[in-house]
Amino acid sequence: MFVISTNHTMYIIGGTTSKTIAEDLSKLFNVPLAKITSKRFPDDELYVRISDDISGEKVVIVQTTYPDPNIIELFLLQDAVKEADAKEITVIIPYYGYARQDTKFEDGEPISARAIANLISVHADRVITVDPHKEHILDFFTVPAFSCSAVEELAKDLKEKNIDMVLAPDKGAIERAKQASKIIGCDFDHMEKTRINGTTVEIKPKKFQAKGKNVAIIDDIISTGGTMAKSIKELKKYGAKKVFVSCTHGLFADNAIKKLTSAGCDEIIATDTIKSDFSKVKIAPCLSQFFNKMLRNT
Ligand code: R5P
Repeated sequence: MFVISTNHTMYIIGGTTSKTIAEDLSKLFNVPLAKITSKRFPDDELYVRISDDISGEKVVIVQTTYPDPNIIELFLLQDAVKEADAKEITVIIPYYGYARQDTKFEDGEPISARAIANLISVHADRVITVDPHKEHILDFFTVPAFSCSAVEELAKDLKEKNIDMVLAPDKGAIERAKQASKIIGCDFDHMEKTRINGTTVEIKPKKFQAKGKNVAIIDDIISTGGTMAKSIKELKKYGAKKVFVSCTHGLFADNAIKKLTSAGCDEIIATDTIKSDFSKVKIAPCLSQFFNKMLRNT
């Protein structure tokens, strides 16, 4: 349990898109949720106001930076907290949008992950995010930035489903599949994926011992569902009994759900870093554990 110093309490502020996580954290830490008013002006610009007196307090703002309007809301909340003279600002970003443009792939492009990180850093003492697409994006923040992994929470959920094998859809996700398989107590393997463009991927055929097995494919993000759909089809070809897809961040863009179900997916599981009908795994326990560990080490 988080220990509150005698002089200061801590306030949690939940942005619109991360209210549930903020509520969960407020219960886990046993600290109050600050009251926030927000509305839209007639021209659709956003207005926010913090009603509690947070002067001299430690404040944790929780806000996923997706879709775009939530980034603006985060900036406004950070500015309001700064103006209110908070003692310390921790920004928790359950899903850090724009992380995939983490480099200049072609001349003339921005490094979007860095552009957003720079702005978030202006009014933050530290940043915590969950399973960023690549760890190096943490270096784009100009304040200490940390990531925590949802794999334990996802694996605990999968353990209930009699999984025989965990599969990574590409080499980049092997470590995650390996960790999950350890918790579940089953085998793990990986597929060979080549990304052709933003919506098309190629999965190299590979001989899997999948016949009659329940297989879980685990990844950081499901966006268009292309990666998972191709992997599901491969597994079903090899006679898998049930195929579960499990991810930290369920973006489910572009008919992703239809793609997954028509590929033969038996269940779709995501955490609540992005709210959807498939947010079956709560991320707050992982964040609170991480936060406590981090505070013990500082
Ligand atoms: C890529 O390396 C990521 O880990 C995911 O595999 C990717 O973002 C999934 O995208 P999509 O669902 O569009 O195939």
